[in-house]
Amino acid sequence: MIHDGDKLTFRRATIEDAKMLFDWRNDPETRAMSRDTSVLLMDNHLAWLTRRLALSEPGLYIAEIDKIPVGTVRLDQDEISYAVSPSHRRKGIAEKMLNRAFELFGPKIAEVKRENTASVKVAERTGHIIKFID
Ligand SMILES: CC(C)(COP(=O)(O)OP(=O)(O)OC[C@H]1O[C@@H](n2cnc3c(N)ncnc32)[C@H](O)[C@@H]1OP(=O)(O)O)[C@@H](O)C(=O)NCCC(=O)NCCS
Repeated sequence: MIHDGDKLTFRRATIEDAKMLFDWRNDPETRAMSRDTSVLLMDNHLAWLTRRLALSEPGLYIAEIDKIPVGTVRLDQDEISYAVSPSHRRKGIAEKMLNRAFELFGPKIAEVKRENTASVKVAERTGHIIKFID
């Protein structure tokens, strides 16, 4: 059970997170708000994650509250991408997660679809820079 005051922490993603990240990425709402809206295939996901984790700085994090994974953040140079676990949305987690990302990494560019009002709100509030995509 997640309570309001619980602290959100980041840990580095591992290959053990493959299925969870796959499910979050394939969630219909996540796909609708992504640049590429197509359904992700597990083989492609595993290949991508393996390559990513082999980088010296993978920039892929799992946000946890009380050891419960609640979201993910990915950094690509000056850009940030994020998703909250579908079962933990609308509880203020994106705000906590992006505040923590700001503390750790500074302001980043979030590429956001205009209709993604939740993401626009939260990126603005937490001091990141919004770049609208179509
Ligand atoms: C966008 C997303 C990160 C928001 O996460 P969240 O933890 O549910 O957001 P929060 O609870 O911190 O809410 C932030 C604000 O957006 C509002 N909001 C959240 N979900 C919403 C929705 N589906 N529709 C309208 N408003 C919404 C909240 O009410 C809150 O506003 P308020 O503080 O003024 O009341 C999450 O929905 C998500 O992961 N979506 C899919 C992936 C995605 O869009 N990633 C961002 C790509 S740039």
